Amino acid sequence: MAILITGGAGYIGSHTCIELLEAGYEVVVVDNLSNSSHISLNRVAEITNKNFTFYKMDLMDRGGLELVFSRHSIDAVIHFAGLKAVGESVQLPLSYYYTNITSTLILCEVMNKYNVHKLVFSSSATVYGRPELSPIAEDSPLGATNPYGRTKLMLEQILQDLAASSEQWGISILRYFNPIGAHKSGKIGENPNGIPNNLMPYISQVAVGKLEKVNVFGSDYETVDGTGVRDYIHVVDLAKGHLRALEKVMGKSGVDIYNLGTGQGYSVLEMIAGFERVAGRSIPYQIAARRPGDIAVCFADTQKANAELNWTAERGIEEMCEDSWRWQSSNPNGYEENSSSVREIAAASWE
Ligand code: NAD
Ligand code: UD1
Repeated sequence: MAILITGGAGYIGSHTCIELLEAGYEVVVVDNLSNSSHISLNRVAEITNKNFTFYKMDLMDRGGLELVFSRHSIDAVIHFAGLKAVGESVQLPLSYYYTNITSTLILCEVMNKYNVHKLVFSSSATVYGRPELSPIAEDSPLGATNPYGRTKLMLEQILQDLAASSEQWGISILRYFNPIGAHKSGKIGENPNGIPNNLMPYISQVAVGKLEKVNVFGSDYETVDGTGVRDYIHVVDLAKGHLRALEKVMGKSGVDIYNLGTGQGYSVLEMIAGFERVAGRSIPYQIAARRPGDIAVCFADTQKANAELNWTAERGIEEMCEDSWRWQSSNPNGYEENSSSVREIAAASWE
């Protein structure tokens, strides 16, 4: 079975490529590399020892996308591609609305034209806005606080309208909580551009000496130690969740929405302490002001995914920190051109 993975060179996409290839799927990747490197795909090929096809292409390129669908007998699409930085989305709202929405519309139109109607879509816990209570179930009130979040909310609605228009469509919307960690090999991981916005890449860059200290955004929240609490999920568990969602969506129509998280919350200070334990070094930090827009606590109710997808996140905080550290310490500068392996492009075919 052939699966098109949009954004497959990115953080979550590259980990999902590995799970799909290892499960025996044929994989086709489309990515414009705007926030990623082809080296991640070289590494996927190296880790799995499997072939797959990569098209360096923007999803807005309708003609190019049609060519992909005409060349490959695609059975389903996992759609990761999009812009994802909250702060940037406030600065560049038009770019976020244009890219995230238009590319998804074009993708769905081309899918329809080529009679492909099974889709797994990357949404985010950000669609819960400012939740009153955690754990957060899928039927909790929705609302977004920034343009990025609003693109996810709008896309969820668009996909529901699409599925309502024809029973052919089977769509799985996955709301990720906070993905961290990396593949066990240490060869692929999160590779943010510039100074990281998110906690885990920030901690690991402090650990490796690239940044001086972690700014802990607020210590006066109503939480275990006053710092923000989140549901961190290992990216490999998340990738495996996509396989379960794909299997499910192949056999049904309509839209299903699932939280992908662990159901457990950890504070910022707990994450720093966990990372210190596995890295065997201290992580300097200072308490700073609250980050505007942040909430105190956010963690998932995962019962629906547990029951309907037969999926549970298995990896704990220690393994998440260990794997993040292995990736960061063996690739302190992320994907570097000269750091690619000898196998290079050999195992994959590039279009
Ligand atoms: P990422 O930036 O690492 O991956 C996204 C990929 O899409 C990149 O490789 C980028 O080059 C590609 N891309 C962007 N615009 C494109 C376009 N127009 N055409 C073709 N390719 C394009 O991000 P990620 O962390 O892997 O996230 C994947 C998806 O999951 C995104 O939709 C994101 O919004 C969502 N998500 C991520 C998180 C997170 O914390 N990482 C949390 C919730 C939801
Ligand atoms: C952020 C995004 C959210 C997105 C999610 C995906 C914002 C406001 N929200 O959520 O839309 O879906 O990432 O991963 O950007 N922290 C620090 N110091 C830091 C960085 C973070 O103390 O340098 C704290 C934050 O205040 C928060 C926790 O660490 O309590 C996690 O932050 P982060 O990794 O940015 O994730 P979210 O805020 O949950």
